[in-house]
Amino acid sequence: MGYTVNEYVSDLRRLRSEGLVDNAMAEAVKPLAKKLAEDGSWLTEKMSSINSDMGVGISVLHEEHDQSLNVIVVAWGEKDLHVPPHDHGTWAVVAGVRGIERNTLWDRQDDGSHEDPDYAEVAAVSHTDISLGDVISMETRHIHTVDNIGEGISLSLHTYGQNPNTTERFQYDTKTNRKKVLKVNFG
Ligand SMILES: [Fe+2]
Repeated sequence: MGYTVNEYVSDLRRLRSEGLVDNAMAEAVKPLAKKLAEDGSWLTEKMSSINSDMGVGISVLHEEHDQSLNVIVVAWGEKDLHVPPHDHGTWAVVAGVRGIERNTLWDRQDDGSHEDPDYAEVAAVSHTDISLGDVISMETRHIHTVDNIGEGISLSLHTYGQNPNTTERFQYDTKTNRKKVLKVNFG
């Protein structure tokens, strides 16, 4: 049987109404996001179109009125995007749909005690390659980068507890070792 976006959203609402938050919510969402990605009947060609300025394409499948339960499809172009390491300020689940995306996780290396409150040293610590059938979750302050390492445009299904452009979230500059507020819809 198929699994529709509407059924997925109903399941997200049900899990949330059961009181699941943060990482517990993300863990519960993972198998459902994988199921929706694998169903793929919701996929349209338009979702593969790339915004030439950003090098990515974003299609919104769902968002509640309060901008929670944000479900989007992200298309990554072939070129090297160099999106800086960032967090989302909310839980996130990413399921592969097409192509191969390398999801690299970064960790804070400093203890946050520097006199400059925006000082932040980060280093890449691990990566997971995501294709159709793979799904990962990230916690509110998990820092990541994404690279399209396959052929052609890649697609992935992203679900966030809250639209990341309405959360307090940060990007990390690895040259200056400083963090700053991020307000770009890269997902
Ligand atoms: Fe992200």
